[in-house]
Amino acid sequence: MTPTQALPPQVTVVRHPLVQHKLTLMRQKDASTGEFRRLAREISLLMAYELTRDLPLEQTTIETPLETMQAPLLAGKKLCIVSILRAGDGIAEGMLDLVPSARVGHIGLYRDPATLKPVEYYLKLPEDIGERLVIVVDPMLATGHSAAVAIERLKRAGATQLRFACLLAAPEGVGVLTAAHPDVPVFTCSVDRELDSHAYIRPGLGDAGDRLYGTK
Ligand code: URA
Repeated sequence: MTPTQALPPQVTVVRHPLVQHKLTLMRQKDASTGEFRRLAREISLLMAYELTRDLPLEQTTIETPLETMQAPLLAGKKLCIVSILRAGDGIAEGMLDLVPSARVGHIGLYRDPATLKPVEYYLKLPEDIGERLVIVVDPMLATGHSAAVAIERLKRAGATQLRFACLLAAPEGVGVLTAAHPDVPVFTCSVDRELDSHAYIRPGLGDAGDRLYGTK
């Protein structure tokens, strides 16, 4: 995908003013580690609201202090959030603030220096992942290769209902991910201009993992 092309239909840019405001604060180079982490958590909570807007409900009978009524509750098994290590954890935590009963899986990938392809080094998933809506999280959709490989692995583990959420995406990453997994809706707060030669998103927000955890 080039920067001027229309976004594929499965891509949603969350344009809520609070999300856009908080994202601008995060992008600023002087944001402290604490501020960056808090903003990532707050935006993730707001994104979880968008990601879960169409969850099915079922009617159940409850007793209010005054009478019996039929009231809606979420139907079926709750979500599974899968964090792509390590920066995905900063997103998963905000989503868990909104959906505290969600299960959490982790996938760790590193880039093989010879092939430049992502290689799995860690995987821990709930056994019943096939019965849950799975939200895969990574703050930056840069080349798109890690996200595509992670989703491929989750499909092999039995996941059938998947969504991907990130804070920022590069047009290149959107192209790679949506071509590999046209069935997976993608949610992002912004599709930035481009990926640079070091695979950083421009204008971007820098290294999300380093900024979340205060490392360099
Ligand atoms: N990962 C990051 O943390 N930042 C980028 O800009 C690209 C990938």
